[in-house]
Amino acid sequence: MEKIKLIICKTKEEIDAIAANIIAEVLKENSKPVLGLATGKSPLGIYENLIKKYQAKEISFKTTTTFNLDEYLGIKKDDHKNSYDYYMNENLFSKIDIDLKNVYFPPINLGDHPEIDFKKFEDKIAEVGPIQLQLLGLGTNGHIGFNEPASPLNSRTRIVDLTPSTIASNSIYFKSKEDVPTKAVSMGLNTILDSKKVLLVAFGKEKAEALKTFFALKQFNESLPMSALWNHDDVYIMIDELAASTLDQHSITKHLIK
Ligand code: GLP
Repeated sequence: MEKIKLIICKTKEEIDAIAANIIAEVLKENSKPVLGLATGKSPLGIYENLIKKYQAKEISFKTTTTFNLDEYLGIKKDDHKNSYDYYMNENLFSKIDIDLKNVYFPPINLGDHPEIDFKKFEDKIAEVGPIQLQLLGLGTNGHIGFNEPASPLNSRTRIVDLTPSTIASNSIYFKSKEDVPTKAVSMGLNTILDSKKVLLVAFGKEKAEALKTFFALKQFNESLPMSALWNHDDVYIMIDELAASTLDQHSITKHLIK
């Protein structure tokens, strides 16, 4: 089986259902599942499907541990609703049976030596992990987590500067562009590559360019953080037809599984 497996569906809803099924399998196969979770618009439908499966008693999260990819740094108090912590509670955690003691975010209340806080987060992943499935969205500039272009392949959890294009994309959630944090704490590319399986979802034509570059590159290049996934053995890339609209057929044939 190819390391990179590409699934193209007509609609986002089809992807949401397939992705939720893959995650449900991980939950069923493991007595103590460990999931890496993502935020943004893209995973919302997947979370809705997982909640339905939980309500139908098909899956339980009682013994699951989760690690989120990233969190804003220096978010204003009255913008708390834009924090990823809030997002996860609203869109998943408050609606399932997960024990909040087993929910982890990259640390943002940093001490004098942030590297110690980041190491603790990484150590926790190593202790309960590896992450069995890491869910990823995709930035229009090819970022994964908040690993912006020029992120090194060996990067681990750290403070990152957001690029102007990411700040502009994320400003729709804030009152004004000036309110968008300019920094975040993100798992590194290397942290992501440590997970056993990666599932990246991307929808819409604004993601098409990054995907086209990914399949053209065929190896890691710092200009496109997503290209780190060429160094992983088990990656699902699940996209809708709009995101796939500019892909070169020749470069994707052997990766296509649907
Ligand atoms: C943010 C997040 C990423 C996410 C990306 C795409 O920058 N840090 O983890 O994948 O946005 O978001 P969306 O799914 O809303 O397009």
